[in-house]
Amino acid sequence: MGKTAIFYGSTEGNTENVAYKLKDLLGGVDVFNVDSASADDLQKYDNLIFGASTWEIGELQEDWETFIDVLDDVDFTGKTVAFFGTGDADGYPDTFVDALGIIYERIKDSGAKFIGAVDTEEYTFDDSRALFDGKFIGLPIDEDNESDLTDGRLAKWVNDIKGQL
Ligand SMILES: Cc1cc2nc3c(=O)[nH]c(=O)nc-3n(C[C@H](O)[C@H](O)[C@H](O)COP(=O)(O)O)c2cc1C
Repeated sequence: MGKTAIFYGSTEGNTENVAYKLKDLLGGVDVFNVDSASADDLQKYDNLIFGASTWEIGELQEDWETFIDVLDDVDFTGKTVAFFGTGDADGYPDTFVDALGIIYERIKDSGAKFIGAVDTEEYTFDDSRALFDGKFIGLPIDEDNESDLTDGRLAKWVNDIKGQL
């Protein structure tokens, strides 16, 4: 595995908890809160795992609102990127985990390689900006309604991406 770090933004701690579960599952990865991370931090890693919650009906988590501009200062050539995000599919079925799509749209032409897309079948929602080619661009986690599924979803996803990091 190349040098890998998780960069998360989290308002009430859900995405943060998931980030640390992911760290335990992957092993040997660093974790940064985007409220205090820099372009230099991003540049040091071969693999970047971005975690974000969605707020205000389809908006980025507030620390990501600032941090997304930092992505413009990073050379993504040769880097591998994966996404995970928390959302509430019952409460916000039309904007479920939109934040993942917002971040992906910002860097989709950056030269990065993207891994970790997830089938929609196991989720009940109406629409999401995180859908590309019929799949979620990363792993949706719903701590509000389906927290019992989180550990299984994470384990399966880590199994999917681990060999590509
Ligand atoms: C006012 C408000 C707006 C929200 N908007 C969305 C949304 O548009 N889409 C979504 O999937 N989740 C939405 N959520 C749910 C949060 O993303 C979810 O609770 C998440 O786990 C919060 O993670 P955090 O504690 O890491 O910030 C919203 C929650 C609140 C309270």
